[in-house]
Amino acid sequence: MSTGAKTKEVQAEVQQLCEQAKSTHDLMTRLTRLLHERMLKYNWVGFYMLEDGIAGQPPMLALGPFQGAMTPHTRIPLHQGICGAAASTGQTVVVDDVSKDPRYLACSIETKSEIVVPVFVRGKVVGELDIDSHFPAAFKEEDRELVEYCAGLVGRFLEKSPA
Ligand code: SME
Repeated sequence: MSTGAKTKEVQAEVQQLCEQAKSTHDLMTRLTRLLHERMLKYNWVGFYMLEDGIAGQPPMLALGPFQGAMTPHTRIPLHQGICGAAASTGQTVVVDDVSKDPRYLACSIETKSEIVVPVFVRGKVVGELDIDSHFPAAFKEEDRELVEYCAGLVGRFLEKSPA
């Protein structure tokens, strides 16, 4: 099966999963599980959600549901990492070789490439979907479409049920 056909197949499964989800947290958990299981190059799949700064502190990205090895980066400021770059610009970031990107915060020595897609609610970034791969340049155009589709579903779900 071509990689394009595979991502389309997984996209259809994601659509079904969205219909079964009981809450946004449940949807995010099921999504990370599905992507991690079905997409063989997606070796770490997780959400970071934007938390307002408490007591004058700057806002932070806090680790949400994820699949893969535990990461040391459970809270990331907006000016740090690929994660901070995606959240602060509101743009998808694809890094083909993390060793060449000075923004990269290492999670696993095995990680070679990464994609981070912001999640929007009513036009504002509220979090992001972060995926790491043990393979260089793992995230092609069809992967970007799939991951943006997943992040879009979470945003729409949050707009309907902000729980
Ligand atoms: N690599 C990310 C940090 C999160 S871990 O990959 C799970 C970054 O550079 O922001």
